[in-house]
Amino acid sequence: MIPLADRTSLISESITLAVGAKAKAMQKQGIDVVLFGAGEPDFDTPAFIKDAAKAALDKGQTKYTPTPCFPELRQTISDKFNKENGLPYRPDQITTGAGGKHCLYMAFMALLNPGDEVLIPSPYWVSYPEQVKLAGGINKIIRGEEKNGFKITPPQLEAAIGPRSKILIINSPSNPAGHAYTPQELKALADVVVKHPNLIVFSDEIYEKLVYDGLKFVSFASLHPQLLEQTLTFNCHSKSFAMTGWRIGYIGGPKHVIDAINKLQSQMTSHITSFTQLPAATALTDPRGKESIESMRREFEVRGHHMHERLSALPKVICVRPQGAFYCFPNISAYFGSQIAGRPITDAVSFAAALLDQAHVAVVPGNDSGFETHVRLSFATSMKEIDRGLDRIGEFLKKLG
Ligand SMILES: Cc1ncc(COP(=O)(O)O)c(C=O)c1O
Repeated sequence: MIPLADRTSLISESITLAVGAKAKAMQKQGIDVVLFGAGEPDFDTPAFIKDAAKAALDKGQTKYTPTPCFPELRQTISDKFNKENGLPYRPDQITTGAGGKHCLYMAFMALLNPGDEVLIPSPYWVSYPEQVKLAGGINKIIRGEEKNGFKITPPQLEAAIGPRSKILIINSPSNPAGHAYTPQELKALADVVVKHPNLIVFSDEIYEKLVYDGLKFVSFASLHPQLLEQTLTFNCHSKSFAMTGWRIGYIGGPKHVIDAINKLQSQMTSHITSFTQLPAATALTDPRGKESIESMRREFEVRGHHMHERLSALPKVICVRPQGAFYCFPNISAYFGSQIAGRPITDAVSFAAALLDQAHVAVVPGNDSGFETHVRLSFATSMKEIDRGLDRIGEFLKKLG
């Protein structure tokens, strides 16, 4: 047997993917499963962006491009950061990557030395700790308490920063809990960060456009002039423009870091797909882009409120109201110690497995996000599905003895 590199055993199999695969297999067998696992909008990519891609192909944009991307896209992203986020990144401070995920991974690879510590507020997006491990770093989790809406506090942050702390991840609005920091809360964290000029912040702003209840989004690096030098800002087209499969992510940050990332990328993937680049710029500049974002945002807001109300009405379930992204993250730990069909419910994994088998509803256990007491439900699905799924969950909970 061909021996594998040690690094392949550093990272764990994704529980999220395992649940998703099982749900899809059940559907293939003809079982009617309600899927709450989706990490992507259920809307299609707007037609004008698809048309721009067809035109790019017809114009022959099918060859190698510069590593960061075509200059037009670099300029457009720079303009977006300047106008929408108050971040004065120049085009040479921008690069792109194959989705937000690849951008984050390249940045960890460019900045972490063995043993460097990365501070990750929990609950967190599943890939952060795995990418950190692959890049040789050490994860230090700062627990966001449910009573604080899952948000970490300035004293918690101050206490977590140690001599080996190199990077702090801020993800607001957040996957998996749908929480989002107010500008004041973010400023209070920024005040702690500026006292530690060697700490780098990765601000993952990919859910920027999906905020609810009038919450104002602010970019972390805009909160203090010093933070421009201390922060990398991550964004992508995946969630805002319903373009998950296109794999378009981008980073703004200090030029020497962007140059280092480009050096890595030039030997790995070279650049993102040529004929997606100008359509990605069109998405940012065409007024129809803003219109499609707003109509999707409004729909998610209505669904999110509805799902939250229905979850909160379930006995013994606690659910923080989502203020961004498209996820609810209810606490189902009151049901631990019960059982169904002879199967004990001991944590979110066993809860999710039993829910899938007995009630045919797929949710994502919070274990991979640092919370064994919670499950994630995506409201990137229709109101009808939300109601069907919540009816089933209600019946399932009644049967737990
Ligand atoms: C918080 C967060 N960051 C980054 C990503 C990666 O986005 P992409 O699909 O563009 O790679 C995701 C995707 O779910 C996410 O939830």
